[in-house]
Amino acid sequence: MPDNPTTAEPDVAPRRPRRRPAAPRAGVTTDSVSGPPVQGGQDWSSWPTYDAAALGFRNFWYPTLWAHQVGTKPVPVTVLGERIVLVRDGDVVHGLHDRCPHRGVPLSLGRRQFPGTISCPYHGWTYGLADGRLNAVITDGPDSPICGRVRVATYPVAERLGLIWVYLGDLADGEEPPPVDRDIPEELTGNALVLGGRTDIRDGNWRFAAENGFDEGHAKYLHNTALWRLFKVMPAWNKTRIVEKGQWLIRVQDEIHWEAEFPGVGTFTNRRWWKRIPLPDRPGKAGRVNPVIESLDLPGFVSIRLPGLLRVAYPQFIHYEWYVPVDEDHVRYVQLMVRFERGLKAELFKLKYLAAMRWLFHGQFTAQDAWMVDVMDAPPEKLYRPDLSLTAWRRHIERGGLEVQPTVRRAGQ
Ligand code: FES
Ligand SMILES: [Fe+2]
Repeated sequence: MPDNPTTAEPDVAPRRPRRRPAAPRAGVTTDSVSGPPVQGGQDWSSWPTYDAAALGFRNFWYPTLWAHQVGTKPVPVTVLGERIVLVRDGDVVHGLHDRCPHRGVPLSLGRRQFPGTISCPYHGWTYGLADGRLNAVITDGPDSPICGRVRVATYPVAERLGLIWVYLGDLADGEEPPPVDRDIPEELTGNALVLGGRTDIRDGNWRFAAENGFDEGHAKYLHNTALWRLFKVMPAWNKTRIVEKGQWLIRVQDEIHWEAEFPGVGTFTNRRWWKRIPLPDRPGKAGRVNPVIESLDLPGFVSIRLPGLLRVAYPQFIHYEWYVPVDEDHVRYVQLMVRFERGLKAELFKLKYLAAMRWLFHGQFTAQDAWMVDVMDAPPEKLYRPDLSLTAWRRHIERGGLEVQPTVRRAGQ
């Protein structure tokens, strides 16, 4: 099962801070930089949990680095604004808060001085990898009285799908986290599969990335120039509704319009002689369908679920993308292209991924999304009919039970 990271992943420091200004009130508001007032527009006060969730939600497992990127040398990652050091010890990857409690030096700069430990590079405080306990202080002698009285927070870590997953949640002493498979689509845990993928850290808040993924209106227009769609027509517009199935919200297309006459403006179509109309917009009704995908019985091909995972199901393969908050202005964008096959078909899919999908879909196509996520500036916003996909997602989040990651540094962080 190959994984294909594009970026060896030095965790980025924000290139340029770009905090979203405090949500303006509905009505006329003033642009935060300069220029004319923005007329009208809604803020996000109808979705207070969502509005507060600039750093996402606690009590979930999140994919971070590729497994092969984490070795015996400590590696830093930032997830939901928390700095974490990942390090492999034998078969196990450990996660610790990346900050020495002594004077705040990152433990990811530390040394592997003794088995099963990490030593801060500054004064040699040495912590157990499994429990974060201060086991020795090299510069204070073997009888250092502070030993055993300091502990660095640890994070549950798991390996799945060639990725390192970290649980960010609140666990009582000795309490086990939920199984990582709870937060992975079940078709990915119970079937033979082959996958290719890319991860990168992109500019913009994770909510814009998630909304872009589930956004009904954009693909037909933004992506109609994408090479991935060079030979396939994009509709002009659709009539869509959102249905809920299990943990997923699914976009269901009731009408697809390939061209339209706009009164007083003209005709719009993406039809060209070299483009064909793609299969119906439902994997289960698209002729030959992979049995695993057919068994999902999806009424539409795009779906989203918490804490921020999009699934785009084609008849023969599925594209997944996770939006993992890094900080308020950056998102870890994890893309997987999965085919549920083994043997020769699996090998051919690997080749197809490397030769085409990797740069056409996971490259140029989703780079168009990254562009929009980076440049958009909302709220305020004025929503239109297709934005029912966005409001359904926000309402889904408001239904309760979610713990928002605080945007101020938590105690011990
Ligand atoms: S700052 Fe880490 S040992 Fe002093
Ligand atoms: Fe898109």
